[in-house]
Amino acid sequence: MRYLRHVSVVWPPRFPHVPGIDAAGEVIRSKTDSFKPGEKVLVTGFDLGMNTWGGFGGYISIPADWALPLPANMTEKEAMIFGTAGLAAGLSVQQLLLSGVQPDAGKVLVSGASVGVGSIAVAILDKMGYRVTAITGRPDPDHLMIILGAAELMNRNDFTSTFAAEPLAAAKYAGGIDCVGGEVLSGMLKSTMYGGAVTTCGMVALSELKFHRVVSYRSYIKGSYQGIQDRCIIPAKPGYGRYGNGCGLCCG
Ligand SMILES: NC(=O)c1ccc[n+]([C@@H]2O[C@H](COP(=O)([O-])OP(=O)(O)OC[C@H]3O[C@@H](n4cnc5c(N)ncnc54)[C@H](OP(=O)(O)O)[C@@H]3O)[C@@H](O)[C@H]2O)c1
Repeated sequence: MRYLRHVSVVWPPRFPHVPGIDAAGEVIRSKTDSFKPGEKVLVTGFDLGMNTWGGFGGYISIPADWALPLPANMTEKEAMIFGTAGLAAGLSVQQLLLSGVQPDAGKVLVSGASVGVGSIAVAILDKMGYRVTAITGRPDPDHLMIILGAAELMNRNDFTSTFAAEPLAAAKYAGGIDCVGGEVLSGMLKSTMYGGAVTTCGMVALSELKFHRVVSYRSYIKGSYQGIQDRCIIPAKPGYGRYGNGCGLCCG
């Protein structure tokens, strides 16, 4: 529910409706001095595609402070290939870094690794020199190692039976990026070393975290909802977002 706090989603949606949570394109008309016609921009999050018509529209009308200049080294298509999933992945990696989990800290877990947020997180972490253990339920996960750069794979059921079943698991990982929630997130928190950090940005498996089974002398929960809100409403200021200001990558 916090996720929706600032965007006041109207449910059921009003039809007709054009969805699309992100968009890239050229400014046709601008009522502000911030953007000029012809300038390339992108927008992700805020209320785009919810109470306003979204990125699948040929033309969209948005408040100027939702838009960011398209980075010079990125095409509109590339920006949308990364999209909101790429932004969430980047922000998650940034939060790991801000929590002090450097590439030499040890192995880092990524769940939901086969697609979306998880797959981009694996690729970013590999590029930055992290040793990534990718958790997936897919029977054919070869692309995770061959293309995206995961150092090792772990089947999702094997992971939860090894790390989530007991009150406390072996401290094996320096950190993690969770896109799944539920038992997987529980297992990640239990298997994280002292000083480690786990970010979470999704709950496709379960919205419930078995808190009493997770908290131990090794783990504590910090700023748990703040990042989730920020993902939707990220201010365009220095330090936020690779798209806009060259910093990079948050959730958790
Ligand atoms: N896409 C975005 O723009 C974005 C942005 C921010 C946050 N999120 C949130 O991040 C989460 C992941 O989104 P996504 O777009 O990356 O992909 P997704 O299609 O929602 O699912 C991600 C992965 O989670 C695993 N998964 C799916 N259902 C599961 C289940 N019932 N139990 C356990 N694992 C399950 C699967 O991974 P394996 O096949 O590898 O096991 C799946 O590929 C979602 O909760 C989403 O709301 C998404």
